[in-house]
Amino acid sequence: MQAKELKQKYLEFFKSKGHAIIPSASLIPVNDPTVLFNTAGMQPLAPYLTGEKHPQGKRLADVQKCLRTVDFENIGDDTHHTFFEMLGNWSLGDYFKEDAIKWSFEFLTSKEWLGLPLSKLAFTVYKGEGDVPKDSESASIWESLGVSKDRIAFLGSDNFWIAGEAGPCGPSSEMFYWTGDSDAPVKFDEEDERWVEIWNDVFMAYNKSEDGSITKLKQQNVDTGMGLERTAAVLLGKKSAYETDLFQPIIKKIVSLSGKDYEDNKKAMRIIADHLRAATFVLAEGLEPSNTDRGYILRRLIRRAIRFGKQLGITTEFTSLIAEVVVSEYCEGYPELKENKNKIISELQKEEKKFEITLEKGLREFEKMATKGNLSGEDAFLLFQSYGFPLEMTEELADERKVKVDAEQFFAAYERHQKLSRTATEGKFKGGLADLSDESVKLHTATHLLNEALRKVVSSDIKQRGSNITPERLRFDFTFDRKLTDEEKKAVEDEVNKVINADLKVVRKEMLQEEAAKLGAQAEFGKKYPDTVSVYLVGDYSIELCGGPHVNSTKEIGHFKIVKEQSSSAGVRRIKAVIRTEGHG
Ligand code: SER
Repeated sequence: MQAKELKQKYLEFFKSKGHAIIPSASLIPVNDPTVLFNTAGMQPLAPYLTGEKHPQGKRLADVQKCLRTVDFENIGDDTHHTFFEMLGNWSLGDYFKEDAIKWSFEFLTSKEWLGLPLSKLAFTVYKGEGDVPKDSESASIWESLGVSKDRIAFLGSDNFWIAGEAGPCGPSSEMFYWTGDSDAPVKFDEEDERWVEIWNDVFMAYNKSEDGSITKLKQQNVDTGMGLERTAAVLLGKKSAYETDLFQPIIKKIVSLSGKDYEDNKKAMRIIADHLRAATFVLAEGLEPSNTDRGYILRRLIRRAIRFGKQLGITTEFTSLIAEVVVSEYCEGYPELKENKNKIISELQKEEKKFEITLEKGLREFEKMATKGNLSGEDAFLLFQSYGFPLEMTEELADERKVKVDAEQFFAAYERHQKLSRTATEGKFKGGLADLSDESVKLHTATHLLNEALRKVVSSDIKQRGSNITPERLRFDFTFDRKLTDEEKKAVEDEVNKVINADLKVVRKEMLQEEAAKLGAQAEFGKKYPDTVSVYLVGDYSIELCGGPHVNSTKEIGHFKIVKEQSSSAGVRRIKAVIRTEGHG
């Protein structure tokens, strides 16, 4: 079965169960200022989950366009995408667990629909916490359908779904498909990555308010989400969605433009395909590349694609040619692509022209810098300022050349420049990159708080092993030899938010290295510092050797949330956290 057929079948199935098929909402959230793009199918429907009447009734199904940028640097592997489509069916105060689960089961297993063997399926349900009880009801429904107890696991926070911090939420039941070469083990094991999550039924009967309290909603809803890319790959027996009809026509075009084959150039080709598919959809919303917010995400998508195009040896202007393939492949479900085709093409051509001139020169400049060894923050800032290289692009190039970039110094240089240009224009004009900088600065201070909170809450032995900041998330690596528990993650988040809300002042001091050490200042392992160091103090909570910049006081940061905790290497864990809420799934 092709991905296109999966979409059709899904909608057909839910139509046969009395659902109205609604078109995808815009990628840009209408009522939610906390997110830049829709990150889950339920986001545009949030008002209807809390009681507003939907004009098309109480049973809806759709394919929603979504975009997530938290995992930007992972694009190119088998499973990550920025833009993706989410299949979903909704009950707005109509059916609940019984029907939702029975229909999920029927769609997955019935020969008439997907016909997946039960022997390859497993299910998870919520184990309960606080005001929300253990979901034995869902477990019994799965059992009544013939699922063995071994294939039903009761889990914690992974089975409680909420988009961001507050709003409609509830326990969920996830469906997993076995992708291993051997027969599926009798018992489901959540740690075994060969079990791939394909669908999530959320029983949205609760609302979480800003203060963290959970109350029952007026109505009991169902929100389900099936990631099209992942499910299509699994159903087709492919390791990756890039090898399905969702991407193959795009990849074929890249192959023909570059004259290279896919097998040897997977990463670059996948990045180009992913980023330009996403950029085409974003451009269809009427957005243009710029240096702030959504426009900056768009710019980074296009520029990174161009950079990898160059690496593949494509010498002609190519981004608009790829976009043409995206438009023709996707316009059936998304008429906005055709309607805005001219604008999409011309914006891409414009951006590519603009970047082409500086990319070539910038790459030469980068080569010169990298031959000498690690790049200073000033080097990275020069590439940013004069050649339009986003910091992460320089970091990626440096990674490939096995040299390092001093990101902290980059931010400091950046801030100095901002201040200068602000003074120069007597404050009448706020630099175009102000928003980008604000986000990164907030995340930078949040990184210091996280560093300290981990030691306070989890273990005093924890040491920082690295960090990396993009405008949308922080990444923090630290020494620790096991997965954090749900309780620990929550306690760390609470601790960081407590410090944020205490509105502590952030102060920079210069002192001798010995003096800083005496005060217990944190320093990064293995990093060389000068004799006189710059130290940042957050109230009396945290003290760290650091070049800045930081917010003036912690309340400016906003709300802190951990979105991922995973292994980075032996004995080192990695946390990704955001201050702008981004849904998870
Ligand atoms: N909101 C849930 C998710 O995104 C189900 O749609 O996974």
